[in-house]
Amino acid sequence: MSAYHTPVMLAECLDALNLAPGRRVVDATLGGGGHSRAIAERIAPGGVLIALDQDADAIAEATRTLADVPETVDVRLRQVNFAAIANAVAAEGIGGVDGVLLDLGVSSHQLDTAGRGFAFRYVGALDMRMDQNDTETRTAADLVNTLPEAELARIFFEYGEESRSRPIAAEIVRRRRTKLLATTEDLVDAVRATMPSRTRAGEIHPATKVFQALRIAVNRELDVLETALRGAALILAPGGRLVVMSYHSLEDRIVKNVFAELSGKRVETDLPDPTPRPEPILTVLTKKPIAPTDEETRKNPRARSAKLRIAERR
Ligand SMILES: C[S@@+](CC[C@H](N)C(=O)[O-])C[C@H]1O[C@@H](n2cnc3c(N)ncnc32)[C@H](O)[C@@H]1O
Repeated sequence: MSAYHTPVMLAECLDALNLAPGRRVVDATLGGGGHSRAIAERIAPGGVLIALDQDADAIAEATRTLADVPETVDVRLRQVNFAAIANAVAAEGIGGVDGVLLDLGVSSHQLDTAGRGFAFRYVGALDMRMDQNDTETRTAADLVNTLPEAELARIFFEYGEESRSRPIAAEIVRRRRTKLLATTEDLVDAVRATMPSRTRAGEIHPATKVFQALRIAVNRELDVLETALRGAALILAPGGRLVVMSYHSLEDRIVKNVFAELSGKRVETDLPDPTPRPEPILTVLTKKPIAPTDEETRKNPRARSAKLRIAERR
């Protein structure tokens, strides 16, 4: 498989999408094109594949990966945020689609490119925008250098489930008074300075949760996911499948709740059951999420936290 990204739970995703020649499918998270390529082969002849990614690197890589898929498949790659999935697909003029795949999070290429700032392992600019052409989106450096301390602590706690959110936020604010944080190393140093002792073997890196939290905040990942799920459900033709792979509990909870709501179930909430629920448009096919096999996680440790949920349009 390509060094760009190894597709996770490929066989399970293909099965879940219920592919056949002539089907119209949206891969909303193109990445290196691993899933897209396999989808294209299964919808030939006559299928349409619309593949979206907000990252220009993904579009460039997948253009190569998909260069030799069967000519009888109409492949359209679009650089767009999947929050706009409903409009993006409507603009293609193909009507309802038979499948939508969302393989959430970042690609290995994004994680392993130092200049993108996603990983604490590499020294690079503290950027973390998935779409580097988007000048409206504030980078991770912008956030750590400008947000109030309480807001930083909230981000680390809510999006990273970081129990040391407050001391870490305080340390960042203390440091930025004399020198702004510019690199991944600056952020790692600030996090480390709040740790009581050295990390013990087997423990996760002390900055793991802070990096996850900032990435979610920079890309507004939880908001765009919810919007995308609702949009995806609307563009499916009856019998069409919505297949979503998430990699942490915050994402999975949103998938589970939106699926529950759109299938007419009561959504998990502490509040009393709200106003009448809308007409259900989905049937959930996975009571529990599907996890990768032990063999897959052994070969590809990045698959280890993946959870796959499937719903079908009524
Ligand atoms: C896990 S990778 C997908 C890998 C892909 N399935 C493959 O086989 O190579 C996730 C991709 O989704 C993209 N992505 C994440 N959030 C997005 C969003 N809101 N809109 C569009 N693309 C997004 C990322 O840029 C990344 O390339």
